[in-house]
Amino acid sequence: MMTPDGKDITLLAIESSCDETAAAVVRNGRQVLSDVIYSQIAVHRAYGGVVPEIASRKHVEAIEPCVRAALDEAGLSADRLDGVTVTSGPGLVGALLVGVSFAKAYAYAAGLPLVGVHHIDGHISANYIETPSLEPPFLCLVASGGHSHLVYVKDYGVYDILGQTRDDAAGEAFDKVARALGLPYPGGPSIDQAAAKGDPKAYHFPQAKIDGASFDFSFSGLKSAVLNVIHQAQQKKETISVPDVAASFQYAVVDVLTEHLLRAAQETGAQTVAIAGGVASNTALRERLTAECTERNLRFLCPRPVLCTDNAAMIGAAGYYAFLRGVRSELSLNAEPNLPLGSRERRFHGR
Ligand code: KG4
Ligand code: ZN
Repeated sequence: MMTPDGKDITLLAIESSCDETAAAVVRNGRQVLSDVIYSQIAVHRAYGGVVPEIASRKHVEAIEPCVRAALDEAGLSADRLDGVTVTSGPGLVGALLVGVSFAKAYAYAAGLPLVGVHHIDGHISANYIETPSLEPPFLCLVASGGHSHLVYVKDYGVYDILGQTRDDAAGEAFDKVARALGLPYPGGPSIDQAAAKGDPKAYHFPQAKIDGASFDFSFSGLKSAVLNVIHQAQQKKETISVPDVAASFQYAVVDVLTEHLLRAAQETGAQTVAIAGGVASNTALRERLTAECTERNLRFLCPRPVLCTDNAAMIGAAGYYAFLRGVRSELSLNAEPNLPLGSRERRFHGR
């Protein structure tokens, strides 16, 4: 999809919804001219998770150098940009506010249009960068630290939510289980690594699904079952195999995500299935879906790991398609910690 006059559209994209301060310059939604991520993981690791107040402060420190680095790397100045796009929600309110305020100030000072985007719209759109030939419709599983959604992508930015989690997000379960196992934050990559040396059949943990409830997920029962095994072993002063618990837990998560995605592909007739979000970088999930989709003749897409976890390039992709749809945000754009996916867009005609 191009602009009606075939002109290139280059956007500065900003993301600060959690613990990554990120800025990117993206052309026509798919060409990444720069992609800078200042991660705060090392800071939060000491606390075993993201501390919102610290995240906000670190974003304030990092946002200006991060944006400057993205523009420098792209070799562009403000007069070569066509707009600014930013995650306006959902996420941590104090963290979001930094990116939103910076984007508003930058857009105002440079006289550029501003486009607020939904964080999950960004995660899904990472697939447009990874696979330039990808066009809707397709099915996408978004699994991150804050979200677990099964979405039918009808068109750019147009989503049918088929299922979502009733309680914890998949990534949240990874983080909590890792913490109980004494593995460092973020838990996903720690469990991914530990599980590689473990036996996924060592423990039988419950399925993370809801009986009779189509495509929704529930990870809290699974999480509690794993925590019980760990606590019981601690009480009895028994040692557990961390790799075995990690592998068995991971198997249960991968199994339910895979089962839901494949069943949704069958029901919707989707030929292309994609994954997105931090959990999409999980090795076992990627391997299992590659194998299962090959068997079923489905096209399986996954962004490279750095495009799965939070980044601004994905916001540049989502922002581009919103820009083409005529979405423009006013300077009253606010951080919305609970912004629902598919909320009404404000569209303006002309730039
Ligand atoms: O998308 P993301 O960077 O931030 C949110 O929007 O939440 O996702 C972060 C989540 C964390 O919970 C992290 O533990 C998980 O993604 N994650 C993983 C892996 N890498 C990151 N989960 C499983 N396996 C991984 N390799
Ligand atoms: Zn995210």
